[in-house]
Amino acid sequence: MKGIVLAGGGGSRLHPLTLATSKQLLPVYDKPMIYYPLSVLMQAGITEILVISTPEALPAMRSLLGDGSRLGISLSYAEQPEPRGIADAFLVGEDFIAGDPVALILGDNIFHGPFLPSALAEARNNEKGCTLFGYRVPDPERFAVAERDADGRLVSLVEKPEHPESDIAVTGLYFYDADVVDTAKRIRPSARGELEVTDVNRIYLEEKEVDLIVLGRGCSWLDAGTTESLNEAIQYVRALESKQRLHISCLEEIALEQGWITAEQCYELGSRMRNSEYGKYVMSVSGLAGQSI
Ligand code: DAU
Repeated sequence: MKGIVLAGGGGSRLHPLTLATSKQLLPVYDKPMIYYPLSVLMQAGITEILVISTPEALPAMRSLLGDGSRLGISLSYAEQPEPRGIADAFLVGEDFIAGDPVALILGDNIFHGPFLPSALAEARNNEKGCTLFGYRVPDPERFAVAERDADGRLVSLVEKPEHPESDIAVTGLYFYDADVVDTAKRIRPSARGELEVTDVNRIYLEEKEVDLIVLGRGCSWLDAGTTESLNEAIQYVRALESKQRLHISCLEEIALEQGWITAEQCYELGSRMRNSEYGKYVMSVSGLAGQSI
């Protein structure tokens, strides 16, 4: 399975913060925003990942993340010159996807919680057409909304409805079978001029099967796309990291847990950032801190 992080767009809801930099490079407490979605794909065990962003932002993303080899993964990059819609990721990424199943995550979506790894494993093992992740929110009209019948089966998906039929928002993490590129080619731009991921999902719902995993108490989902939600995300990560003395979405730690890098490599990656708390944490999770290596 391949993975895509969609990290383009103008970030206009965050102006002036994003006038000279990309939203997905802004800090969410101790690390750049893009670490969070990238860490989700890595936790799902995905090692071949494409980062899609604007031509202006890609050089900085490339210099931040490189080719992924230091994390034991493969990262490649592709340009999306205009924000043509989330489903455009499948057209931009067609050659990269190369007929494989693919997971897509939005570059401003943060997921965290003890039940996340099992939810990701379920999505990855799902042989059905696609898996979506729902999350109950007080303001569903801001998102795609999922409606279920009395038996819990998904019956409808509506993008930003004026009168939502439920409080289940469809989050920005999607797992698809190998047909997603062909499906994305069938849709047309919406009234707001975008190729809507919800239109792709609706075709899956009509023609195949869609599994909706509603993330419950053991998971948190934050969309850091507005000033308010970005600051909420920062407070959330700060509270967790200072109370629990652990760092969430630590790419080096996940790479180590997945067996993609050795303890020595992890220690070395941490020591390059030894002046920061994050760097010290990476050194400590290697299990080699304090030893002479
Ligand atoms: O966050 C979940 C929601 O994300 C879903 O519930 C909605 O169904 C989905 O449409 C999307 O809604 P947003 O209004 O939040 O989408 P937005 O246009 O803000 O784009 C989300 C991210 O994707 C943002 O970080 C920028 C990036 N993006 C977006 C578009 C349209 C791109 O990189 N390229 C694009 O063409």
